[in-house]
Amino acid sequence: MIVFTAVFVSILAFHSRNLANAHPMEPTRTVHIDTRRPAANPPPNCFPAIGFTMPSAVPTSLSNWWCAYDTEYAFVGFSYEVTECQSLTKLRTEFNDIKTRFKGRYVRLYGFCDRAGFYNDIVDAAWGAGIGVQALIWFGFDGDDKWIGRRNTLLGTLHSNPKAKFVTRVLQFGSEPLFDWVLDPPDLITQVKAAKTNLSSLQIPVTVSDLAYSFRDLHAKDGGPDVLKAIDMIDAHILPFFSTKASIANNSWPIVLDDLNYFISSGQGKKIYFSQNGWPSVTSSGVQPNSPSAVANVQNEKDYYALLDKHCADLKAVPGGGVGWFAHIYSDNQEPGYGIYNTGGTLKFPFAPKTSC
Ligand SMILES: *[C@@H]1O[C@H](CO)[C@@H](O)[C@H](O)[C@H]1NC(C)=O
Ligand SMILES: *[C@@H]1O[C@H](CO)[C@@H](O)[C@H](O)[C@H]1NC(C)=O
Repeated sequence: MIVFTAVFVSILAFHSRNLANAHPMEPTRTVHIDTRRPAANPPPNCFPAIGFTMPSAVPTSLSNWWCAYDTEYAFVGFSYEVTECQSLTKLRTEFNDIKTRFKGRYVRLYGFCDRAGFYNDIVDAAWGAGIGVQALIWFGFDGDDKWIGRRNTLLGTLHSNPKAKFVTRVLQFGSEPLFDWVLDPPDLITQVKAAKTNLSSLQIPVTVSDLAYSFRDLHAKDGGPDVLKAIDMIDAHILPFFSTKASIANNSWPIVLDDLNYFISSGQGKKIYFSQNGWPSVTSSGVQPNSPSAVANVQNEKDYYALLDKHCADLKAVPGGGVGWFAHIYSDNQEPGYGIYNTGGTLKFPFAPKTSC
């Protein structure tokens, strides 16, 4: 579904580790250290930490609810496509699987389902499984304005469902609205600001899920960098397979770093997630490399995630609380070749990525 025709321009960016740690949406938290207990790194008592027990009732406030950003690095969960409009039963089963089998803390939604009440089902399943959600307003690739209705429905549900603000970590405009030129950057900024205002009472941050290439190169002169300034956190698409320099996944760290360094140097210390992040096991009409040496197979899909594990400490050290990465995507039924599961529901390779280091 992602067609890359543009040539990637590599820009030398610099690591900058002294940027202010500005987290306007992060609730303040008091940490009590109980010196009587031999603390063997107990799980942080916050949502959606691994080991956190969901309360039996909906809390009355968001104080001390969300985990601090600096705990949300390494593997955090899956991109999860909803275009098949999964039933509530299926959402519950798969969110529980993400939580228990893979120690996922989040799902990052991808695609769209316009069924009435669908986001209520997402909230229900996420609450039940004890995982957070990166919600998404889907623009699609057709340039139509269906996203306006989706935006209104989603914003409405975030306000009306009492559990929604306790599971929704961020609202994304996506996927790749800048890359797809669906809105001019000033119009996208207007949308981001309006959503921030709309969601301020719920303390839900707003972002745009897109490539470094889109902010840095494609929209260098018409406001791409201003979009980066307007968003609360960074949802970076890291898809090194499409680089003109791609070969095998094991060689892709410099490509990842090029884009990461752009987000570090231009991102004002904001929290960074790799929201759409992976390496395909097969090519398809929408998944074609821009390098003749790029290899798509299961070994490379597996190697790519192992590479991120190998660089866990580097990702943890990134300003803003370290990089939390999502695996794109949960199943080959959702996007061919990117799944951790194949279309028959079997794991394509052992997958137990680090959640801390
Ligand atoms: C947020 O937007 C939704 C959808 O447009 C609207 O129904 C709701 O009233 C808005 N809420 C606030 C607080 O602005
Ligand atoms: C990539 O590196 C890993 C770890 O060193 C190794 O097991 C794997 O075979 C390598 N993959 C390829 C395609 O060379």
